[in-house]
Amino acid sequence: MDFGTIEAELLSGLELYCKPWRQEHSKSTAALCERLCARFGLDPRLGRMAGLGHDLLKDWPIELQWETALRAQSISDLPASLAAAMRLRSEPQLGDKMIHGPAAAVYLYEKYGPGFADISEAIAQHSSAALHMSSLAKILYVSDKLEPLRPRSTPEDLVALREYDLDALFVHSLGQVLEWLKSKGHSIAQSTLDLYNAMVSARNS
Ligand SMILES: [Fe+2]
Ligand SMILES: [Fe+2]
Repeated sequence: MDFGTIEAELLSGLELYCKPWRQEHSKSTAALCERLCARFGLDPRLGRMAGLGHDLLKDWPIELQWETALRAQSISDLPASLAAAMRLRSEPQLGDKMIHGPAAAVYLYEKYGPGFADISEAIAQHSSAALHMSSLAKILYVSDKLEPLRPRSTPEDLVALREYDLDALFVHSLGQVLEWLKSKGHSIAQSTLDLYNAMVSARNS
């Protein structure tokens, strides 16, 4: 894959499709994702592409996001993206907020081909998370939630980013998200709640 060309196209895609603050959030997520990939032994370029692409379609009309995401049904390389899209379809209240993950996954896979599949699968899972996630998917999830432009960034996050192993960091991020949603009175996807409980009990057993 020609990462230089893909990066340039993702940056112009962000300008074309995303609100200015989302462009900044995506670049900040990409920078953190790149850094964490290096810390956890992955190719930092994968993290950079995942961060730049993860919210690419979030400002698209919602019908178009669903239509794009559901094309995962005919792509055998994207089982996690398909599973995420189907799960979101069964949680209609939250589905509209989170379908941009699987939508971007399919859109970018169609553009860049099978070599992009691992990045696409990570992108698909960044919005709702899942029980089985690759290291790249966990790193992207964490980067999206803890990137420094997020208003709810805490000093504890900085310690976690520097010192925790990947699973601990992932559980930390999930916990922060759940706490934040609760404090705002927002509803929480059942799948996210189940995942958090499963991860916590796996770590305690
Ligand atoms: Fe997102
Ligand atoms: Fe994001």
